Amino acid sequence: MTKFNLIATSAFGLESVVASELRELGFNDLQTENARVMFTGDITDIVKCNLWLRCADRLLLNMSEFNAYDFEELFQGALAVRWEDIIPENGKMHIVGKSVKSKLYSVPDCQSIVKKAVVEAMKRKYKREKFTEDGPVYKIEVALLRDKVTLTIDTSGAGLHKRGYAETRVEAPLRETLAAALIKLSRWEPSRTFVDPMCGSGTIPIEAALIGKNIAPGLNRNFVSETWSIIPKKVWKKARLEAEQSVKDIPLSIYAADMDKKSFRQARENAEKAGLTDDIIFEKKPLQEFSSAKKFGCIICNPPYGERLGTKKEAENLYRDMGKVFSELDSWSFFILTSHQDFQKYFGREATKNRKLYNGNIKCYLYQYFGALPKQEKTGL
Ligand SMILES: C[S@@+](CC[C@H](N)C(=O)[O-])C[C@H]1O[C@@H](n2cnc3c(N)ncnc32)[C@H](O)[C@@H]1O
Repeated sequence: MTKFNLIATSAFGLESVVASELRELGFNDLQTENARVMFTGDITDIVKCNLWLRCADRLLLNMSEFNAYDFEELFQGALAVRWEDIIPENGKMHIVGKSVKSKLYSVPDCQSIVKKAVVEAMKRKYKREKFTEDGPVYKIEVALLRDKVTLTIDTSGAGLHKRGYAETRVEAPLRETLAAALIKLSRWEPSRTFVDPMCGSGTIPIEAALIGKNIAPGLNRNFVSETWSIIPKKVWKKARLEAEQSVKDIPLSIYAADMDKKSFRQARENAEKAGLTDDIIFEKKPLQEFSSAKKFGCIICNPPYGERLGTKKEAENLYRDMGKVFSELDSWSFFILTSHQDFQKYFGREATKNRKLYNGNIKCYLYQYFGALPKQEKTGL
């Protein structure tokens, strides 16, 4: 089977999480760069990655990389690519672009040069002058970084964070891909209690339930490459069937709360859309009233930062309350994502580890407080 050069793009800071997901999916030839992981795979891998990657933004075909300092070099580099092996006669060639610190800085010009080259390549095979472009979409990106051109085709369509369960959102929701990454980083296991006491639209607990039940994040959505002729329909059908058969029917102990009525309703609606109503217990309740007699629980939350929601002072008072409430949970682990620089001061404890992550373009830290682990997890039995 033809091998493709593939790129899983990610948010800054999540590259190693995406690389670890790819290793779990069986890929070993990984090369990690800023905001992307490169590897190789065939058409079944394109399908597998789109269906199963929880933390990546998109899956791209890497068609070519070369240096270009003028339009002729860009044109010749793009013309050398066998676009016609991927794009059918009626394919819609949608070109997008970006340019950073490069001689060729006019993005619209780069896009039209690449379009011209792709059309010329199509003429080689289809022997016609004009193309109707009324078929499946092929979104081609021409990306220049310090004069290096990367030409890609997007296989995902809508970003992979779109799982299909959260169409309407409350204020400041977390991206599903980031929520899934927080859970991966926490080393939470489905046998342990999981809590998000400030769940907003429910993204973190819903992602935890998807992970807990081994539900493929892409099971309830479509991908642009499902319309492509290079991937036979039966490949998608088989992968979807296998994903359906991999769902684990296991009991989960996931609890989500928010004091805001609208958020609480939204979270429940989203869980219902994701088919997880029976897997998450929702409550409309303030964090200050949270307590649990359970052991080895795991809290992952994204409280207000005092930037988009509420004031800084309110956020600081909330962090103090979190410190008090969480201090009663002695065997638990806590993971808190916030952009507030002095979070630890108000929370009252230094984190075991901090990790810089971006929530959209807000620089945040994930404060990680690792608690004790139940015996069998420690020994790996
Ligand atoms: C940044 S949002 C969380 C977004 C969420 N992760 C999502 O993906 O939708 C913070 C949430 O904390 C809630 N919140 C703030 N103070 C709270 C408190 N004292 N108790 C419970 N919830 C609180 C807000 O209502 C808001 O929904």
